[in-house]
Amino acid sequence: MKSIASAPGKIILFGEHFVVYGMKAVLCSIDKRITATSQLIDERVIRIRSSLGESEINMDSSNNLEKVQQKFMKPFFYIAQKAIKENSAKNGIELVLESEIPQGVGLGSSSAACVAATASVNGLFYKLSKNDVMKIAVQAERTIFEQNSGADSSVSTFGGLVSYDLKKGFEDIPSRNDLSFIISNSAQVHNTQDVVRQVRNFKEKNDDLFNKLCKLEMNIVDNAMSSLKENDLNKLGSLMLENHDVLKQIGVSTEKIDLLVQEAKKTSYGAKITGAGGGGCIISLVDDSNSENTLNNLRKTSDCFVTKIDYSGLRYS
Ligand code: PMV
Repeated sequence: MKSIASAPGKIILFGEHFVVYGMKAVLCSIDKRITATSQLIDERVIRIRSSLGESEINMDSSNNLEKVQQKFMKPFFYIAQKAIKENSAKNGIELVLESEIPQGVGLGSSSAACVAATASVNGLFYKLSKNDVMKIAVQAERTIFEQNSGADSSVSTFGGLVSYDLKKGFEDIPSRNDLSFIISNSAQVHNTQDVVRQVRNFKEKNDDLFNKLCKLEMNIVDNAMSSLKENDLNKLGSLMLENHDVLKQIGVSTEKIDLLVQEAKKTSYGAKITGAGGGGCIISLVDDSNSENTLNNLRKTSDCFVTKIDYSGLRYS
């Protein structure tokens, strides 16, 4: 028997970086997924094949996690080993991961993979609740990224449009906006932890300016929340451009990213970095009237695709 589950990636619409300092961020899951397929096998090994990094491991299921050489495989080994132990299984597990989400560019691929893998592997024994899947997926991700906030795993598990801040955690945004975005990949691979560190340095050296930018950002996010309620695309687009400008001021944009935003601005409602910046992707807000033109313009200099908000989150098939 095969157990199959899939989970979506995510984008941050507003508030990245400032969320680290207590401000609210708005994020949503996207209609690009990672599918995990698992099955029990006779050999007592954990075999993982992943299109995420074109990699494969085949290790005794009793091995220590530290023995997993490829870092990005650790969470999946952890998930499979935990399921074997907790279910006193006498078999091994084969897990295959297939991704539609580009890697390492802030689209939440590793969290989506952990969510899909947790649901799929545990589904060989019994179906976990979404809450339990999320908890295990976060623990799995922490085997390689200790300070992981759990934001990406949560939005991937439950889907939809949510706000998040450190105090209140996640809150569902009830307006079911049918927004479309073009995601353009700068092809500059970023490291979120490095960019977050860089922003902390900026804050320490420019305290007054940073406080001013925090207020600006708070205002942008508040306005974005009301524009979402009204589904006002013009307003949302111009708020995205304002947000991009703030991100530029804290030094997380790059020349390539700014060029992409300039290009997107010509035809879309607005555009900005999504996620940590320092490379990665930009998002442009579009609808049927301007999607094709924006896509054609951005395609000249980047890989891009249209995406919509995914409201289903984790799915079993
Ligand atoms: O690179 P991403 O998309 O995972 O975005 C990180 C978002 C930050 O606000 C920069 C960091 C964080 O932990 O919230």
